Amino acid sequence: MSKENKTNKKVTKEGLRDALSIFRYIGRYRLYFIGALILLVIGSLLMMVIMGIPGEMVNSATGAKTQFHLTLDQWGLLMLVALGLRALLSFVQTILFANVSERGMADVRRDLYNRLIGQPMDYFEQFRVGELTSRITADIEQLQSVFSITLAEFVRQILILIFGIVVLAYLMPKLFLVMMLVIPLVVVLAMVFGRYIRRLSKKRQDQLAKTNVIVEETLQNFPIVKAFANELFESDRYSHSVEKMVGISLRFAKIRGLFFAFIIFLLFGSILFILWRGAYMVQDGTMEAGSLLSFVIYTVMIGGAIASLGNLYTTLAGALGATERVKEILEREVEIKVKSDSSDLPDHISFEGDILFDGVGFSYPSRMESKILDDVNIKISQGEKVAIVGQSGGGKSTLIKLLMRFYDIQEGMISIGGVDVREYDLTQLRSSIGLVPQDIILFGGTIKENLLYGNPDASDEEIVEATKQANCWEFISSFEEGLETIVGERGVKLSGGQKQRIAIARTILKNPKILLLDEATSSLDAESEKVVQEAMNNLMQKRTSIVIAHRLATIKDVDRIIVFNDGSVAESGSHTELIQKDDGIYKNLANLQFNVSMS
Ligand SMILES: Nc1ncnc2c1ncn2[C@@H]1O[C@H](COP(=O)(O)OP(=O)(O)OP(=O)(O)O)[C@@H](O)[C@H]1O
Ligand SMILES: [Mg+2]
Repeated sequence: MSKENKTNKKVTKEGLRDALSIFRYIGRYRLYFIGALILLVIGSLLMMVIMGIPGEMVNSATGAKTQFHLTLDQWGLLMLVALGLRALLSFVQTILFANVSERGMADVRRDLYNRLIGQPMDYFEQFRVGELTSRITADIEQLQSVFSITLAEFVRQILILIFGIVVLAYLMPKLFLVMMLVIPLVVVLAMVFGRYIRRLSKKRQDQLAKTNVIVEETLQNFPIVKAFANELFESDRYSHSVEKMVGISLRFAKIRGLFFAFIIFLLFGSILFILWRGAYMVQDGTMEAGSLLSFVIYTVMIGGAIASLGNLYTTLAGALGATERVKEILEREVEIKVKSDSSDLPDHISFEGDILFDGVGFSYPSRMESKILDDVNIKISQGEKVAIVGQSGGGKSTLIKLLMRFYDIQEGMISIGGVDVREYDLTQLRSSIGLVPQDIILFGGTIKENLLYGNPDASDEEIVEATKQANCWEFISSFEEGLETIVGERGVKLSGGQKQRIAIARTILKNPKILLLDEATSSLDAESEKVVQEAMNNLMQKRTSIVIAHRLATIKDVDRIIVFNDGSVAESGSHTELIQKDDGIYKNLANLQFNVSMS
């Protein structure tokens, strides 16, 4: 029994804490927040007092006895002054709330982004970019409007409700009882509807995210959409998704509408009832006409408060639904903490020494059933240049991803300089390795921005020097804008070979201890191949290098060639050694490639 109680309590407590956890982000701006709340309270109460003036004016006009003895002009003046003050309070309060919501939500955005960017590789294999983008835009926007408008409005309306009820209870206890019968009904209704609304809101945000995925992916892969003439297909896909959202939104609207219909009926019903009773009281002479006016004004205000509280409540419940997703990301562990100052990394680890793959076995976390690498043993000495060749899909690219610890292995060990890669600080590890990946993706900005990605502190001379070594200075300087040339989304305005050489220059600027080159399969013409090859050779100088090659011609002068087959090492040796092996895989490959390229 007591145990049950305990868990019950815990659940509600946690639920509340969950809902309020986003308030942590407001905490830093609590002075603004509290200030705004105080102004809000004063302003709302002032407004309630102002709304009592018309009734008093009528009372003094009809010569009824009142507690206050002011002339009509004095009442008018008082009203004017109070309204002016109210306007001023409202102005300051809006600015204060904006400060809280803008700054607070900027913090949430930043945090959310840092969480996302710090996630390990496999996180991005589970989600689609459009969906994540939606979280950081649409969901946060919902939250933002809560903190800038909804919350303040909510507090204001509650104050009006309380103040109004107190005044009514004082002026007309009997009619007040009628109000008290209506309010609990509204609260219960709000709770029932609120749960529903929250669920629908979450669903709607999810659907919105799915819709964003389609936009994001088709725009990113624009050339593919065009090449396959799939505009119609994508248009249908998008339209379906939007249609689905309309469906959810309409269901959402139906619930809200139903809620309002109930509220309006209850509300206006009680107002009309009160008016009716009040009119009798004026007729009896038990009430002044001015008091009835005040009474009606307050009742309408209370009615308005209840109606808008319903609306605000549904908005708040909706935002809570959106928050759940945001919170889920905010609570994720990151692989790499984003530091505000990245220059304070300790520099004592040299990343020199041999690279060792010792009995490595690996499956991708998203596809555990297929073993990509099985008992891989490779030793690469400090300064050695090694090439890896082998069939497509054999696990070559996987091998170097593991060296950068994009994923953790399940069996064996990978070490650099005798230290397990799992023991290095990830940032340090990856900063010391230069990777020219198989599919090169550039940022959409200028060539220079892309190059600076390798080393943000590089000087202009260093940049030019690197582009010369990477054999790309020639084509860059032929562009009218030079280094400032915009490369277009993911680098579409450059040729494959140009992109490759820019990626090489980017890695030259990084100046890594260890170099990993994953050569693209797209074949270049002989001239460009020579140029790219030269760039690669420049990059490999004085570094431990691993080159994954598809064209054997490019790797003739590496120190050693490793032949990869079915997830493990099949052959290893120099070109001349391997070419003499009878029935060797490399020998077959070489025969095939060199014969084909001769014909
Ligand atoms: N992120 C991933 N999740 C699941 N499986 C993956 C992932 N990346 C690659 N694979 C699978 O791992 C296997 C090895 O892929 P890998 O990219 O290492 O091959 P590769 O030897 O580099 O081939 P290629 O010569 O075509 O570049 C493939 O069967 C591939 O389908
Ligand atoms: Mg590959």
